[in-house]
Amino acid sequence: MIKGKVALVGSGFVGSSYAYCLLNQGIANELVIIDVNHKKAEGDAMDLNHGLPFAPPMSIYAGTYADCKDADLVVITAGANQAPGETRLDLIEKNSKIFQSIIGEIMKSGFGGLFLVATNPVDVLSYATWKYSGLPPERIIGSGTILDTARFRYMLGEAYNVDSRNVHAYIIGEHGDTELPVYSLADVAGRPVRDLMAQGVGPNEQQLDELFVNVRDAAYHIIERKGATYYGIGMSLARVTKAILRNENSVLTLSTLLTGQYGLEDVYIGVPVIINRYGIREVIELSLSDDEMKKLHQSAKVLKKANQSIPV
Ligand code: NAD
Ligand code: LAC
Repeated sequence: MIKGKVALVGSGFVGSSYAYCLLNQGIANELVIIDVNHKKAEGDAMDLNHGLPFAPPMSIYAGTYADCKDADLVVITAGANQAPGETRLDLIEKNSKIFQSIIGEIMKSGFGGLFLVATNPVDVLSYATWKYSGLPPERIIGSGTILDTARFRYMLGEAYNVDSRNVHAYIIGEHGDTELPVYSLADVAGRPVRDLMAQGVGPNEQQLDELFVNVRDAAYHIIERKGATYYGIGMSLARVTKAILRNENSVLTLSTLLTGQYGLEDVYIGVPVIINRYGIREVIELSLSDDEMKKLHQSAKVLKKANQSIPV
């Protein structure tokens, strides 16, 4: 029986933006906020509660790891974010140590639900969460390239002047510098981007390449301007939470353990998956072009190497 209880670990920019989305969209029944800075968690819970007269009912409070025991979902956004110029992979050392202690505390509570990881480098820390928790891999979900895919759909929507909800396109691979666009399967309302290009409609090859670079580097562009990114990821995490708590069987690009799909194994990486209340139900294997497959393998290689530096 799903209670609709979420435990949020890390109430910084990303965590508090996510909590605000949950409240506004009426996605969860109960939200416990946990942070090493307990006062920040308390302040956020108080502030969010004051919005309740304008939102669907929800119980929101600051808690401890013991409160994870009966949660359906633990969402982790705790840890350091990138300084300007820093890559996501540069955060491994700091954040994997934090994860080792956090996951241990959560498992001690008797938690048996799903994990959703957003802290960077998200693919590496999802792999670490799987290792540290001992839970089956389908119960550990990384936010993967859901945000990159959202950025991609938004920018393509702008380029074709079409609602981004009618743009179907994926970014896959590492949530980071080696991610790639799947242009071979991208379509706008059922019309393949490649066909539109051949007809002279919308961006040409070079403009599509530039559009992808802007997607890939979006976080750098935002961090340079305001120090951190949080609204887009807050909404992305809320979307995943809704798919889980409402058992939607939705297709989202998330980080999951590959076990032979795409010719890859033993790596958490962003690919389209079907997600429901039990976690990752299925990995969708796209018919990638040879070039896309090569780039996905290259991205996986970088992640596998990074996984070796996780403390065990
Ligand atoms: P932040 O510094 O604002 O917040 C981090 C929070 O974690 C703080 O409140 C801090 O007190 C808490 N914390 C630190 N150590 C902890 C511990 N041991 N236990 C519990 N809480 C702890 O940072 P942010 O901007 O919210 O970013 C958080 C993470 O999310 C970063 O790693 C960032 O790179 C990542 N991020 C991921 C995506 C994505 O698409 N996956 C998008 C944006 C940001
Ligand atoms: C993002 C973070 C920084 O906004 O991973 O992509």
